Amino acid sequence: MIRFSHVTKQYDGQFTALNNVTFFIDKGEFLFLTGASGAGKTTLLKHIYMEEIPSSGQVFVCGHDSKYTKKKHLPYLRRKLGIVFQDFRLLFDRDVFENVAFAIRATGASERKVKRKVFEVLAQTGLSHKVSYFPSQLSGGEQQRVCIARAIVNDPWVLLADEPTGNLDIDVSREIMDLLQQINTWGTTVIMATHDLQLIESRHYRQIELSRGSLVGGSDSTVKPKAWGMKLESENIYTAVQRTGTNA
Ligand SMILES: Nc1ncnc2c1ncn2[C@@H]1O[C@H](COP(=O)(O)OP(=O)(O)OP(=O)(O)O)[C@@H](O)[C@H]1O
Ligand SMILES: [Mg+2]
Repeated sequence: MIRFSHVTKQYDGQFTALNNVTFFIDKGEFLFLTGASGAGKTTLLKHIYMEEIPSSGQVFVCGHDSKYTKKKHLPYLRRKLGIVFQDFRLLFDRDVFENVAFAIRATGASERKVKRKVFEVLAQTGLSHKVSYFPSQLSGGEQQRVCIARAIVNDPWVLLADEPTGNLDIDVSREIMDLLQQINTWGTTVIMATHDLQLIESRHYRQIELSRGSLVGGSDSTVKPKAWGMKLESENIYTAVQRTGTNA
């Protein structure tokens, strides 16, 4: 579903943010992306949603190949991904409903569908009672839930969460973690960047670890899955999220 093949990213032709990174993530996995601050976690995630393109090597995501993906293809890739950004990126002049609705309206959905889906994901993320609140009226944990609701409203194949528990206390972090775990059980592949060691140790998911841009650890991170021989294009027929039956 996601494959990095000898990916190196250099900024300004000098600084190496990712160094010869190779790994595979299978559909339905929950994966921790770990490493110290500055190790390259956000940079790696940016390569998955192709905001960044490798200086050398290749990235394959849900049937898209970084070598051949052009700007005009990006909306199709992004529709398959839900992104929880490290810096939230909420719209502070709009309420919770509108923050989530914004993401689904962008797909051209009817207002009826927008309403139905927004209320559905707000219920799933425990926010039904905060629908008319503005982000500034929410706690950090609630703001993070809005980010997650927004990221899953279009039923993504893959959810990328960049330090979603970064600024939260331990109990709220656990709740956010439980929510991501729940989303994973619905069929969505989840990749979570974090350096919260306590959280990582409390859940037994695969992790891949970066240090100064290089992969330094990770169980089976370069092992090819059984389905490796399949053509990547065949991933297009994979429908990860069946929880609502409204993927169309
Ligand atoms: N656009 C850019 N231009 C130049 N250098 C960059 C750019 N983006 C990231 N870097 C550098 O790449 C390195 C990795 O950054 P990145 O944001 O991926 O780290 P991170 O692991 O996400 O850190 P944190 O845990 O603090 O979020 C850093 O040294 C950063 O300065
Ligand atoms: Mg980061």
